[in-house]
Amino acid sequence: MAATTTTPLAINPFAQDVDERLPPPSTLVLFGATGDLAARKLLPAVYDLLADGRLPERFRLLAVMRGGQDETSFRAHARAAIDAHARRPLDDRLWEALEPRLGVVAGTYGSPELFEALAQRLDEDDREDGEPSQRLFYLAVSPAFFADTARGLYEAGLGRGADPPTRLLIEKPFGHDLASARKLNAAIEAAFDEQQVFRIDHYLGKETVQNLLVLRFGNGIFEPLWNRTAIDHVQITVAEDIGIGHRAGYYDRTGALRDVIQNHALQLLSLVAMEPPASFDANLVRDEKAKALHAVRPLDPTRDAVRGQYTAGWIGGERVPGYREEEDVPFDSRTETYTALRVEVDNWRWAGVPFYLRTGKRLPLRNTEIAIAFKPVPHQPFRTLDAPPPPNELVISVQPNEGATLQIAAKMPGTALRMRPVQMDFQYGTSFLRESPEAYERLLHDALLGDATLFTRADEVEAAWEIVDPVLSAWGAPPAKPVVEADEPQAYEAGTAGPTCADELLARDGRAWRPL
Ligand code: BG6
Repeated sequence: MAATTTTPLAINPFAQDVDERLPPPSTLVLFGATGDLAARKLLPAVYDLLADGRLPERFRLLAVMRGGQDETSFRAHARAAIDAHARRPLDDRLWEALEPRLGVVAGTYGSPELFEALAQRLDEDDREDGEPSQRLFYLAVSPAFFADTARGLYEAGLGRGADPPTRLLIEKPFGHDLASARKLNAAIEAAFDEQQVFRIDHYLGKETVQNLLVLRFGNGIFEPLWNRTAIDHVQITVAEDIGIGHRAGYYDRTGALRDVIQNHALQLLSLVAMEPPASFDANLVRDEKAKALHAVRPLDPTRDAVRGQYTAGWIGGERVPGYREEEDVPFDSRTETYTALRVEVDNWRWAGVPFYLRTGKRLPLRNTEIAIAFKPVPHQPFRTLDAPPPPNELVISVQPNEGATLQIAAKMPGTALRMRPVQMDFQYGTSFLRESPEAYERLLHDALLGDATLFTRADEVEAAWEIVDPVLSAWGAPPAKPVVEADEPQAYEAGTAGPTCADELLARDGRAWRPL
């Protein structure tokens, strides 16, 4: 296979963040390079990193493809993907710098010959460049291939102990339940050291999710309040207005609990609940997150978890079909498209403070937020004309309006004492006047730098599965005959805020969800 002659990437005139660390010479090897994730997120992220001047000077991307594919067609594919999905318009000068760095290694997927060819190609490229590159293997493929790909890489000398060093980046879903996640971790550990493994949860790459850590640990005012004394409860919402698109094959086997709660929502919970780490060392941060997840009280599926499935309805003035009418969804599917959990974190900081988690498809809008609801004042000294305003609330909005809002009570102007809740607002867009990078840019850059802080460790993934496993087992059990209501997800109309059982989950505690 011919190596392509390349010159170092030109200094990009639009480079920002010039003071940021530059990764060492690197090759990113993409498994699944023509898939949806590569087209929508990974190839555009590589381009945007280049545009920001954050790629190493010596950088190559190798697409691992089935036999018969060539460099020309992959490059055309990459260009189209970048053009369609990058944050910036495609700049010809940047593309000319990137194009010669895109190569292809083709063969029969999973065959030892393919891994051998890959190892050879990597060595050839290093000789060509006159220096060794670290190698990052990104598995953007079906999870069915994760274990075999890790083994194939190891057998080709590219796993544990490889020189030059290698890393393995793995997309979700990492396992289907606790047992399969353990099995997968064991298979990966047989081929790579844990320090080489970077499990992706793209929520951790989102700017506002990282800002949660800065808000908590970079400010003095929150920590004294960040506990059971001041906080009444926490609500974590991952609401989506989209349906399942063409993903029925994946989604119908997965459901909302596995798709979003086990990973994204529980990662958010761990960041809210964790103790302050001594430093931002990757392992110290992940130790604290894992401890928080381990402190979660085992869920009682009949009390702490509810599920729903959307029926036809209206969203944004458009009629949308119900889940069971979506392309390739079985007409009698019991897969949940909405899940809500009531979670207790059994430790000194959080005892008695419920965390309510919810996610759903076809809700009225897209909104991911963390709401910290503070306790009401112990005594209301004002004689006002109104009912006392609601207690303080800190809302960290992850998307789409990235920012944070603190709700406080204020006096309305006038001679009478009237109180109203008002918002102290911080919006990323207006405060920093620049666009946030995409989650995948941040994660790829961190992986190139070898910083694993924003990647999930084996024990964290298993701890998260441990939390949801009892609910999965209860929901996955074959329905009692004749089918009773409790065996089925409750119907909710598309465009509404979810099933009524989710409202009842909070009403039981005398609380209500924040409106969507
Ligand atoms: C993915 C899920 O992990 O996250 C999708 O598989 C979901 O079903 C997506 O739509 C949400 O991500 P984001 O970044 O759009 O909030």
